[in-house]
Amino acid sequence: MHKLGIDIGSRNTKIVLFDAEHGKILFSAYHATEISASRSVDILIDKMKQQLGNIEIATSCVTGYGRKLYTAADKVKSEISCHAKACHHLFPEARTVIDIGGQDSKVITLNPDGSVKDFLMNDKCAAGTGRFLEMTAIRLQCNLDQLSELAALSDSTIPLGSTCVVFAESEIIGLLAEGHSVANIARAVNMSIAKRIFAQMAPLQCEAPYVFTGGVAQSQDLALCIAKLLDKHLIIPEDPETTGALGAAILA
Ligand SMILES: Nc1ncnc2c1ncn2[C@@H]1O[C@H](COP(=O)(O)OP(=O)(O)OP(=O)(O)O)[C@@H](O)[C@H]1O
Ligand SMILES: [Mg+2]
Repeated sequence: MHKLGIDIGSRNTKIVLFDAEHGKILFSAYHATEISASRSVDILIDKMKQQLGNIEIATSCVTGYGRKLYTAADKVKSEISCHAKACHHLFPEARTVIDIGGQDSKVITLNPDGSVKDFLMNDKCAAGTGRFLEMTAIRLQCNLDQLSELAALSDSTIPLGSTCVVFAESEIIGLLAEGHSVANIARAVNMSIAKRIFAQMAPLQCEAPYVFTGGVAQSQDLALCIAKLLDKHLIIPEDPETTGALGAAILA
């Protein structure tokens, strides 16, 4: 039985086709979320059909920030339940999920059976999200992969004082003008995001093992910064950006 999961995020739309019988992912892909969210989904479904042929979909489920914009799915589920479901499927021992996307960050604690124990979501401030990394990459004239590689070359710690991305951008311009290296500035940004996530986790009773998902989990250096503050290893799925869509597919 083939189940389709759709995650319409604020930045990217993701789909996953899941073979429920064998517990296998048959297809996954992402595309920038366009003004018409359903167009983004259609582009991905066409891509899937080009690759797999005219495959029969038994049932579908949509999640994400734009979930109410897509009415063709059989079910609608929250991002919290989808991330929790996928992380429990991939790593049954997981007890805490950190999801950082383009526009928000979520921390979810899980019971041993994978059900959601508690969660906190930050969708009010860009400073702990991918948006901060995107602004930094533009300022440092590199792409997001290079940003992580640069940060890994850092040789000293610069504390970032700004608690807002708009002010942080001015601060970064100032640091460049003072002659600080791009590596040290990239690390300072990662450490600043890690500290925000760490603070977001404080009210929850977070326990290991920790899973880090969302597009931002592709930054190895940021994962290391969060792991350092937690003093715990972070498990990162093979394709962290499509975790929410995988959860939607399982719940479909
Ligand atoms: N290599 C990378 N390193 C760090 N961050 C990355 C990388 N590639 C993508 N990202 C970040 O991941 C974001 C997209 O992640 P994701 O698809 O999880 O967000 P979303 O679901 O659209 O957003 P949200 O959950 O906030 O609505 C991009 O906006 C970018 O900031
Ligand atoms: Mg998301």
